[in-house]
Amino acid sequence: MARITLRQLLDHAAEHSYGVPAFNINNMEQGLAIMEAADAVDAPVIIQASRGARAYANDIVLKHLIDALAEMYPHIPICMHQDHGNNEATCATAIQFGFTSVMMDGSLKADGKTPADYGYNVAVTRAVVDMAHWVGASVEGELGVLGSLETGMGEKEDGHGFEGKLGHDQLLTDPDQAVDFVKATQVDALAIAMGTSHGAYKFTRRPDGDVLAMHVIEEIHARLPNTHLVMHGSSSVPQDLQDVINQYGGEMPQTWGVPVEEIQRGIKHGVRKINIDTDNRMAMTGAIRKVLAEKPGEFDPRAYLKPAKAAMSAVCKQRFLEFGCEGWASKIKPLSTAAMAKRYAAGELEAKIGVSRQAAE
Ligand code: G3H
Ligand code: 13P
Ligand code: ZN
Repeated sequence: MARITLRQLLDHAAEHSYGVPAFNINNMEQGLAIMEAADAVDAPVIIQASRGARAYANDIVLKHLIDALAEMYPHIPICMHQDHGNNEATCATAIQFGFTSVMMDGSLKADGKTPADYGYNVAVTRAVVDMAHWVGASVEGELGVLGSLETGMGEKEDGHGFEGKLGHDQLLTDPDQAVDFVKATQVDALAIAMGTSHGAYKFTRRPDGDVLAMHVIEEIHARLPNTHLVMHGSSSVPQDLQDVINQYGGEMPQTWGVPVEEIQRGIKHGVRKINIDTDNRMAMTGAIRKVLAEKPGEFDPRAYLKPAKAAMSAVCKQRFLEFGCEGWASKIKPLSTAAMAKRYAAGELEAKIGVSRQAAE
């Protein structure tokens, strides 16, 4: 069974210049959709569960679901990741249930709403790093608060994220502070803020550099060439998925997401993990709406969940291909978390600041 840590997977992605989509799941259909897509193109997988997903699906169900997916697809390395952990306990219990990686999102306080100060973020992230690395699990930290550069607002749409108005100093990760943060916390991956936000309503027009500040990624990568960067809020909100939803009775106002070309530009500058949930939600919802609109007499859930799964799988496959994951799964030999713990203890995985990737190897 091939569970992999985020650190090992992203080290491989960096070595071979690709990025890995991290797809959120809440149920069996989504898990199967991701794995069918990964299997079709031989891509390694990051599956992530938010706190909401863990509460919805139940930790025990999720644990056995991931075990089942790993058993079905033994040749595909699967990283199971906690999305937006809010405190040490959330991260510790995720690892207890078999997650090989956690995000400690210390950009917000434990309520998941209030922007935290830098000192708090460093302290809580460092505490999680110490705990996770003892057992070989990986840690993603976040510096900067996700939210819109157009409005300064966070998003309440999916129930977390700050709820007020922020300035650009908080909405854009400071590259110098990023260096200090990685040094102080020793995170394995760093999520940064540069104008993306969760959910469907990211931009009111096709984004340009004013509202999607890709140059921030380039500046951080120049200072931290060995740090794996993470883009949250990276759904592209494709027009065709908006159209299907609206064609079959939905009411989604016109909106824009993060263009795939911008993500590909990020991948050239150190982005290794790309978080996607909304696109998959939209694909499933559009497919379900279509079945229910065309066959109002239908009441077998399989009649709409099967096309929903297929629609999500198509999105996943497309992203695997666009981010360069094709063909890598079978070439990776996953290390156990116990083996990773030894590597951390030996100091092999310490953050290398300001050294080029080639020189660091
Ligand atoms: O982080 C955002 C993901 O889309 C998860 O959202 O908290 O509604 O599960 P959720
Ligand atoms: P989207 O809402 O853009 O899919 O982002 C998901 C995400 O960042 C999960 O952490
Ligand atoms: Zn996120």
